[in-house]
Amino acid sequence: MRAKVTITTLREKVARGEKITMLTGYDYPLALAEEKAGVDIILVGDSLGMTVLGYESTLPVRMDTMIDHAQAVRRAAPTAYVIGDMPYLSYQVSVEQAVANAGRFMKEAGCDAVKLEGGRNVVDVVAALTKATIPVMGHIGLTPQSIAMLGGFKSQGRSLAAAETLIEDAKALEEAGAVAILLEAMPPEVARIITARANIPVIGIGAGPYVHGQLLIVHDMLGFFEAFTPKFVKKYADLNGAIRAALAEYIADVTSGAFPAAEHCYKMQPGEAEALLAKYNIG
Ligand code: KIV
Repeated sequence: MRAKVTITTLREKVARGEKITMLTGYDYPLALAEEKAGVDIILVGDSLGMTVLGYESTLPVRMDTMIDHAQAVRRAAPTAYVIGDMPYLSYQVSVEQAVANAGRFMKEAGCDAVKLEGGRNVVDVVAALTKATIPVMGHIGLTPQSIAMLGGFKSQGRSLAAAETLIEDAKALEEAGAVAILLEAMPPEVARIITARANIPVIGIGAGPYVHGQLLIVHDMLGFFEAFTPKFVKKYADLNGAIRAALAEYIADVTSGAFPAAEHCYKMQPGEAEALLAKYNIG
């Protein structure tokens, strides 16, 4: 088993110029595959509201749901750096509530850090969590919990003014104590400037190549989530196609009687099955 990935491991990778790998993970089997593949960071993202629970946005996701999933991921992935994603309104109402909810990820699920969305508007929360020794990953750019404000799932930072806002937000998060920053859906040039000015690991999802590491939603890159695929996703598999083909074959086998075959059946002691059937006049 590899050594536990810590924030020091991630900083050392950045110092050596090695890229950090990050994927979302929501459940035991997929997180186990990610752990075995050697993914550095697993984000238990509130995107599970869409990819796993079928909501149209991440807004309905509850804190208790996140804890259940984070616990499953931690059980599967003892060495990955596991980050719990703070769901909508778990940190916006008050700093006290934010500390209590973030603390649940650490105490109940054994997470290594939490992630929350926002820039200068959340620096008080980032500072309070840092003071409470809860490491925070900031998240700016397309922040899915703000779709009502952003007008939908839209890329960000595409004007000079919007780019400057993101650059200042990133610095403010670092100054408030964030241990890492996630940049979502923005031009590579903006991400490049933020990364060049950062003293902490910067991960991108749809933010181009100039960041310290890459994140994808695991259900997107495996071809498992079909509702929509953002421009920045590379599909590495077609799980949905494979699953649908397997299901169709199962239905055909059951319908035709090809399944179950002899090798799928339990056996009695030699001769006993025949005797039992004869006693009940069957066969
Ligand atoms: O919830 C999540 O998976 C995320 C990503 C979209 C960055 O926050």
